Amino acid sequence: MEDFEFESPTHFVFGRHAESKVGEQLAARGAKRVLVHFGGKSALESGLIDRVSASLDASGVSSVMLGGVRPNPQINLAREGAALAKREGVDWVLAVGGGSVIDSAKAIALGACYDGDVWDFYATKQDATAALPIAVVLTIPAAGSEASMNSVLSNDDEGRKTGYGRDILRPRISFMNPELTFTLPPYQSAAGMTDMYAHLLERFFDDRGNVPVTDNLNLSLMKTIRAEAPRVMAEPDNYDARANIMWAGMLCHNGIAGAGRHADWATHGLEHELSALDPQITHGAGLAVLFPAWMEYVYPNNPARFIQYGAEVFGLTPTGDVNADVYNAIDETRAFFASLGMPTSLEELGVHEEDIERMIPTLHENKGEPFGSFMQLTMDDAREIYKLAL
Ligand code: NZQ
Ligand code: ZN
Repeated sequence: MEDFEFESPTHFVFGRHAESKVGEQLAARGAKRVLVHFGGKSALESGLIDRVSASLDASGVSSVMLGGVRPNPQINLAREGAALAKREGVDWVLAVGGGSVIDSAKAIALGACYDGDVWDFYATKQDATAALPIAVVLTIPAAGSEASMNSVLSNDDEGRKTGYGRDILRPRISFMNPELTFTLPPYQSAAGMTDMYAHLLERFFDDRGNVPVTDNLNLSLMKTIRAEAPRVMAEPDNYDARANIMWAGMLCHNGIAGAGRHADWATHGLEHELSALDPQITHGAGLAVLFPAWMEYVYPNNPARFIQYGAEVFGLTPTGDVNADVYNAIDETRAFFASLGMPTSLEELGVHEEDIERMIPTLHENKGEPFGSFMQLTMDDAREIYKLAL
């Protein structure tokens, strides 16, 4: 088992009407003036922003609003938010939305405490020493940003999408009301569940050491997502299914499902290039296509790990034919994502063979070479994985 440090400072308020406690909880933590950050329209249309504002007002916490975060959030709006936060003297940033809004809020929290351009952190990964405290009202279980140390931002001018992670970016408090997710479009529910499952795969595929405490936790989350995901798709307002998925999404990515293991993150790196190429591509949908391709490419490094995965998660009985057993596990993975309505090829996402070379330079810039852990990949390996995914 590898040595590790793990900090999980987030306080969770989980359940029906959780968002009505925003004001009292932030006031109790000393918040005086909050920047409320949200997305395109869903939180406005549902009345959530009004409810959050009312809760802040009732507790004597003043607020400044900044909406308009798009999926695959752009650094430009975060720059604007950081300037607004400085001008208005805000002392907390409250994200009301999903991974995109939360990540943009994290960038604002960094930028508000920094004299230079906040993109510096993403471009050069220079150390941040301070960030405003962050709170979250989560509306889509997916990215796990409600408790993670990461944030992923796009810079369309540079054709890049890349992450920055530090413990100071872990939200101090997250309000998680599963009822808020009843309104999600099916495609977003599916992409979100694919993303959280991918966060487990990234951590499971490591063949060093013996870490059953973490592996069993990880596998149990995979099995839970497999069982609950079809219920979410069939009954969008099934509270228990939504609640199990919402809590699972957090557990998949706060770090606990990988403690003591080397996470891989190659597939996430490959996917971020798809979303940088075309910001219309949803992160989870890109992962649904790329993860099976990555598996096909890297499994010879340790087929036994794949056979263990197939047996534990899909109940596959090993036949003794190693390649066939591995392919069964990979086919089950692809079929699971497809059963939710996710794509199975890059072509379905509008990405063609000639696009591969456009992604390689920024992949190299963002991930370096080699990248990945289960198998160390070169840019040539990356090309092959993209081709397998076509
Ligand atoms: O903008 P609005 O109108 O709110 O619509 C959003 C958006 O179109 C909609 N939505 C959210 N909640 C809703 C809702 N629609 C109806 N009802 C609701 N309750 O859903 C769409 C997608 O939202 P988004 O925030 O983009 O989704 P997600 O949470 O999947 O976040 C994806 C982003 O997170 C990054 C991804 O790369 C991507 O940019 N990631 C962040 C990570 C992290 N910070 O730790 C890790 C992940 O691996 C991931 O890379
Ligand atoms: Zn992800």
